Amino acid sequence: GLCTVWVDDIPILSCSYIAMRAEGKNITTLEGLKKEALEFGSFLATEGGDQCGFCSPGLIMNVISLKRKFKNPTEEMIQNYLMGNLCRCTGYSAQLRAIKKYCETNDHDKF
Ligand code: FES
Repeated sequence: GLCTVWVDDIPILSCSYIAMRAEGKNITTLEGLKKEALEFGSFLATEGGDQCGFCSPGLIMNVISLKRKFKNPTEEMIQNYLMGNLCRCTGYSAQLRAIKKYCETNDHDKF
């Protein structure tokens, strides 16, 4: 999931997406989500879910999408939504705690 970008607000794997299909579509990369990425990154750091950081860009893209799509997703929903995001460092527990806490925050709670 490291190569995740959004095409018309839907996460896709850019490494397996034929470029011609993107013509006329809105492409969002991590740089386009800086504010939300920084916010989720702080949750990740607080919970100890940031280690080497190799998987972080794709994880962040998908977590922000998840939060926008679902209000208070269950643990099972989170695991299903992030199934393609592989992390070799954390074992997922810390990431899952961070995702749950991040998804519990309301947009007006942002700091
Ligand atoms: Fe190292 Fe995920 S933090 S691969």
